[in-house]
Amino acid sequence: MEGERGYIIGGVAAASPIWLAPLAGVTTETYRSLHARLGAALVHTEMISAAGLSHKNGKTARMIGGSISIPTVLQLFGPDAETMARGAEVALEIGRFGAMEVNMACPMPKVAKKNGGAAMLYDPAESCRMVAGLKRFGLPVWAKIRKTEPRRHPLSTEDFCAALIEAGTDLIVVHGRTPAQRYDGVSDKGIVTSLAAKFPGMISASGDYYAPDDAKEYLDGGCVSVLAARGAMRDAFLIPKTLFALGFPAEEKYLNMSPADQINLLAETGREAVKAEGERFALVMARKLLTGMLKGVRGAACLREDCASSRDWISLEKTLTAFAEQSEARE
Ligand SMILES: Cc1cc2nc3c(=O)[nH]c(=O)nc-3n(C[C@H](O)[C@H](O)[C@H](O)COP(=O)(O)O)c2cc1C
Repeated sequence: MEGERGYIIGGVAAASPIWLAPLAGVTTETYRSLHARLGAALVHTEMISAAGLSHKNGKTARMIGGSISIPTVLQLFGPDAETMARGAEVALEIGRFGAMEVNMACPMPKVAKKNGGAAMLYDPAESCRMVAGLKRFGLPVWAKIRKTEPRRHPLSTEDFCAALIEAGTDLIVVHGRTPAQRYDGVSDKGIVTSLAAKFPGMISASGDYYAPDDAKEYLDGGCVSVLAARGAMRDAFLIPKTLFALGFPAEEKYLNMSPADQINLLAETGREAVKAEGERFALVMARKLLTGMLKGVRGAACLREDCASSRDWISLEKTLTAFAEQSEARE
């Protein structure tokens, strides 16, 4: 639903339907802040273990991070409705969220083994109990699922969605790959848009969003929002480009940033990461961000190699600054 202050989607007010997906090991507080700045209207935490939270595990609790200016969705996984509710209770003591989301999509064995992620697609009854159990906190409750397989899962994707909606789910993010596909092959956009037609206002899209036209296809097909995942990792400016291409409010300064400005943005984000998540993570994040920045810029490949061998933040930042100065001198 579109209103004066943007959209109400899944019970959450957002300025646009272009959002950042949950990405384990990536969507930390700093990465979320960067994408909020670049124009994402809503961000997700990484998936967080409800069991870890319920045991007040400090490392797990740190994944929640601080609050930012746009809605943040807390994503939780496994192992059962009671633990999930206990985990949510702890999370709500620490952070502020626009919605809570149950991860029913992660295909990785370390999550499925703990009865989380895509393992939930085998257990519609427990999935519905998880949703119903979270409703008592008064926030919108979302689910993120994958396409199911007829011979493997008890319910079709459509029937699974219907059951979740019946249990009180406010929004379902559908990733059009089966768990067996993991992250390979093509994501089935057709099933996502056919579910959007079947359940108007309830389906958000994930899968193979690499260019503004992919987001347009999902939105034209009736999806209420689209999540940028690997697309935003490969091109850090995918979200502002999409906003601009589809006519949503966008900050023009992020559309054609000079190499020096991109480097400054990266260095600033890295410094924040050193403070919020520690130097080791900041180095990893800066290298990941570099793969999605400076596209087509002369010398960028060498810069990426140089940064890969930096052992601390000071030397990585020096390498970045030297590159920015050289490219400014060339301009
Ligand atoms: C590195 C990585 C980490 C991910 N972590 C999560 C996660 O924590 N929770 C989740 O629901 N999905 C996770 N996903 C799945 C993405 O949110 C998204 O649904 C998927 O990548 C499909 O979109 P894409 O084809 O546009 O990348 C992850 C994907 C990647 C590549």
